[in-house]
Amino acid sequence: MYLGIDIGTSSLKAVLIDGDQRILGSRSTELEVSRPHPGWSEQDPDSWWTACLAVLDGLAADHPKEMAAVKGIGLSGHMHGATLLDDADKPLRPCILWNDGRSAAEALEISAASERITGNIAMPGFTAPKLIWVKRHEPEIFAKVKTVLLPKDYVRLKLTGDKASEMSDSAGTLWLATPERAWSDEMLALTDLDRSQMPELFEGSAATGTLKADLASRWGMTGKVVLAGGGGDNAASGCGVGAVAPGTGFISIGTSGVVFVTADRYRGNPAGAVHAFCHAVPGTWHQMGVALSAAGSLEWLSEVLEAKPGDLIAPLGEMPQGPSSVVFLPYLSGERTPHNDVKVRGAFLGLDQADGRPALTQAVLEGVAFSFRDCLDVLTMPLAEPRRLIAVGGGSRSRYWLRVIATVLNLPIAVPEDGDFGAAFGAARLGLVAAENADPFAVCAPPAIREVIEPIPGLVEAYAEAHATYSSLYPAIKGAMPR
Ligand code: XUL
Repeated sequence: MYLGIDIGTSSLKAVLIDGDQRILGSRSTELEVSRPHPGWSEQDPDSWWTACLAVLDGLAADHPKEMAAVKGIGLSGHMHGATLLDDADKPLRPCILWNDGRSAAEALEISAASERITGNIAMPGFTAPKLIWVKRHEPEIFAKVKTVLLPKDYVRLKLTGDKASEMSDSAGTLWLATPERAWSDEMLALTDLDRSQMPELFEGSAATGTLKADLASRWGMTGKVVLAGGGGDNAASGCGVGAVAPGTGFISIGTSGVVFVTADRYRGNPAGAVHAFCHAVPGTWHQMGVALSAAGSLEWLSEVLEAKPGDLIAPLGEMPQGPSSVVFLPYLSGERTPHNDVKVRGAFLGLDQADGRPALTQAVLEGVAFSFRDCLDVLTMPLAEPRRLIAVGGGSRSRYWLRVIATVLNLPIAVPEDGDFGAAFGAARLGLVAAENADPFAVCAPPAIREVIEPIPGLVEAYAEAHATYSSLYPAIKGAMPR
């Protein structure tokens, strides 16, 4: 038996799987985010630990026999969070999260070095700029920083007593030299830190240590339980959906959207605001584009129009008839890939007196598809084209939307059979690999596919033209934001 634990932004989730990777049980509990100032986003590190104990206690109550047989645990979590510990390993302040925008100025200061060493532009959400902010605004805290850990690695410290991390999540700190898979002294020095403040690095599929004896007995575990390195949530999701071979990838249509493609070598594209990170399996990297508001745009429309998303989409039918004359820019939370613009906001353009709910809905679904196209374009420039993408996330339930996305991307979209292929499942797979010394590429196989949604050949050209119109709008509106 193996466990995967994912520290999500809004909840912590654990899944229990057997040697055949069947999910035997899962539990989750909510987490709170505090927003002490506009644009800030923080979480109490000890709330992760309380949640982790509650969830594993729950699984031990539900499945005592299976929990007794757990041999491996994998960890996953939201990336980039700065968890600052003192010399007694106690958090010095709340963790500053991935969606916290306070360190925009600090990000600019180290961006050129980051592009050269890590292959990524420094974004305010990433970890390194946050430490410069803390040094500047909370010097008394900065002076006490003994160790900086990512969220999942703080939970690891509690589980094993080890300060350890792995390549995929560490790449999102900007202290990792992405091609070499090693800490960069130069990037650390730019934030007045050094290697002694960093955890030891492992591969995501390697064992980093073993579960403390008192915790093993709390959950009735009888044998040795190893902790796998695990992965940042997107790399762990890649392991969950079997996107570990070069050229394989997935598209996640959640509140935010992700286009993720695996590569057998490091290739950065900072000009396109691509995230070029290590994967959670050895000798493998990935590129990722992030759309900050994907299904989130539809959720927004659904709230504004007071109608369920499914009821908004239903009148459009299952088969797209061609692009709308209304264009929607889905920048409700700003923009990451390819423009990296925290200030820009969304827009509808081309509205006509005759346009009602269906036109607005169609425009929103298309706008999100176009933002995925933008992500894919900057990803595929330096990489081999993926031949198809696996769709995950709530938005993948709409056939109409998937057909629009497949046609806009001009790529088949594969929809898995029902199941849970998220980050917790990917982490559990890594736990299995580390415990059994198994081949990560064999364990992280793609799921059974229910349906492959093909691009609609007669509409590819029309959607390409509509995408060109969409692309021309960002430069036109970016300087014209009312706020
Ligand atoms: C990736 C990113 C998010 C977080 C939270 O760069 O910021 O995907 O990992 O999910």
